[in-house]
Amino acid sequence: MLTRKVLVTSALPYANGPIHLGHLVEYIQTDIWVRFQKQRGVRCYYVCADDTHGTPIMLRADREGITPEALIERIGKEHLADFIEFGVAFDNYHSTHSEENKVFSSLIYTRLRDAGHISSRTITQAYDPVKEMFLPDRFIKGECPKCGAKDQYGDSCEACGATYSPTELKNAVSAISGEKPIEKESVHYFFNLADFTDMLTDWTTAGHLQTEVSNKLAEWLAGGLQQWDISRDAPYFGFEIPDAPGKYFYVWLDAPIGYMASFKNLCDREGLDFNEFWGKDSDAELYHFIGKDIIYFHALFWPAMLHGAHLRTPTAIFAHGFLTVNGEKMSKSRGTFITARTYLEHLNPEYLRYYFAAKLGAGVDDIDLNFDDFSQRVNSDLVGKVVNIASRCSGFIAKRFSGLLSGHCAEPELFAAFIIANASVADYFETREFGKAMREIMALADKANQYIDEKKPWLLAKEEGKEQELHEVCTMGINLFRLLAAYLKPVLPVLAGAAESFLNIGPQAWVADMQPLLNHRINEFKPLMTRVDADKITAIVEASKENLEKTIDGPRAKQFEPIADTIDFNDFAKLDLRIAKITKASHVEGSDKLLQLTVDIGDETRNIFSGIKSAYQPEELEGRLTLVIANLAPRKMRFGVSEGMVLAAGPGEQEIWLLSPDDGAVAGMRVK
Ligand code: MSP
Ligand code: ZN
Repeated sequence: MLTRKVLVTSALPYANGPIHLGHLVEYIQTDIWVRFQKQRGVRCYYVCADDTHGTPIMLRADREGITPEALIERIGKEHLADFIEFGVAFDNYHSTHSEENKVFSSLIYTRLRDAGHISSRTITQAYDPVKEMFLPDRFIKGECPKCGAKDQYGDSCEACGATYSPTELKNAVSAISGEKPIEKESVHYFFNLADFTDMLTDWTTAGHLQTEVSNKLAEWLAGGLQQWDISRDAPYFGFEIPDAPGKYFYVWLDAPIGYMASFKNLCDREGLDFNEFWGKDSDAELYHFIGKDIIYFHALFWPAMLHGAHLRTPTAIFAHGFLTVNGEKMSKSRGTFITARTYLEHLNPEYLRYYFAAKLGAGVDDIDLNFDDFSQRVNSDLVGKVVNIASRCSGFIAKRFSGLLSGHCAEPELFAAFIIANASVADYFETREFGKAMREIMALADKANQYIDEKKPWLLAKEEGKEQELHEVCTMGINLFRLLAAYLKPVLPVLAGAAESFLNIGPQAWVADMQPLLNHRINEFKPLMTRVDADKITAIVEASKENLEKTIDGPRAKQFEPIADTIDFNDFAKLDLRIAKITKASHVEGSDKLLQLTVDIGDETRNIFSGIKSAYQPEELEGRLTLVIANLAPRKMRFGVSEGMVLAAGPGEQEIWLLSPDDGAVAGMRVK
């Protein structure tokens, strides 16, 4: 038999945010599959990396006042720590901002260019004249051309779902500076994807993709392939294009190349042969696990790039669906946008590994995390069925037989049934039908429990002359537990490891033609897993709501706008900031944004119109102290003259906070 060589990847998580439970569907799915391969003795490598380039990362670093390099270094460490605690065991975790990736990106680009697959032309794009940069669609906002909803982003409307191009937005502004974008020309580089139409038509129907994915691609291919814009102008955090100074590779060009870069980094560390896996004639298997949102990049651009650059194409791409929580899209305000870290602070990561395994299949269906179902499955399957077998039998072995298993297998047929199941369970793991694998394993656990229920060791223990039977029944139970632990090992590596220590055996390979453990000394049993505590789930949801203010989410984090240009002291001294008491607040007829405030600033009262209606009821403001700019030139508005401005912070909508002075302050005091 040919010995298999397998290289596996998960999509590279963006370095601009934390790992969340949605991501973990993928990393846990991949990790289970890889652990299964390794347990079966397949030579298998699992690599990943942080996806570090692009505008959001550059801007976030800007907001935090650090370099992009420092940001990606910090986030990379956080990501890896999360993965490790969830048991996701990469053979290598690298970064797309690496020397290897730069070399491969240049190599692939140059090969594509030399073969005539790259062209360039001038395009017109939105440009932020203040920030001096071109604006990606997501960084332009304005009114939806379809429904008129305000504050929508350049590519789609959250209110009505319309998609459009940013030039169609009404009253468009840059989400970075707030300035009106101008149109500006620049030369861009394109990958001529259409050159690969025939190749892709074959490739996407040759068994490398799931059927539903392959069908989707047939639609895209039928629509004709467009040129792909692979360059971005400075300022951009990425790799400069070798023959085009000031132009950078678009993040999605070098991201998949990051798979190769991470593997190369592993090869250099461990002395593996890179070409054995990536060379044109490689006989190694290459699998990419991805979410369904990034199929286009992996099933069209990527194979075309590889093919055009004389490298091997993937053996298969395994796409999965999206995670919903309690039936809905993960939501920050509902507290269901749960980060890996928040989960880890409260619950055992293996609960989630098991739950995802139980819900995952080979298709692209979304999977739902329902908290009641989660607790119920973990409690009844893992604690109630699997661990229970060991706890029901181990006490007798310890107390009555000083830890020694009997020398005889009481029920060879039952043991054999557990062994025979290995073929179909393995098949389910191999084909990513983890849900079916878990059901079959739990059916075995049911059989083991039935056996114990029938034999009733707790009664045998009390009867005269049943010593031998008690010993054999408990030995049988322990042996069945051992096989269950081996089957569950790809999913529950920690539990399986603890079971191995309890059983006093080495690391278990995949269940094959195994013999029962007889005349074997086992160790003292310690509870291997406890029940899910419902309070912990409530705590996770609460903590996730609190995280809301702390998470930074691309251009949406308006609260973290870049620091404005420096002013000198004289500019500052010109501001007359006063403590003000709001004596009256009322709605403004005809305005859905403004409240009319009467404020006492010591010697004077002022009339101020303030755009805080979305966050405050007039009643809650009366009597409250805040800060105002008292020497702002009066402004005539549609509703009257505004004589100053109250100070508030926050991104807008419900999230506006009026600034309040400390106790002791009184209206009229100057703020210095
Ligand atoms: N950086 C790109 C991938 C580049 S691969 C060369 C990216 N990053 S991501 O952080 O947004 O997502 C990483 C992976 O997690 C993707 O496969 C994505 O589909 C998956 N998921 C992100 N959110 C998810 C859910 N809510 N549910 C399931 N998977 C999700 O895309
Ligand atoms: Zn709309």
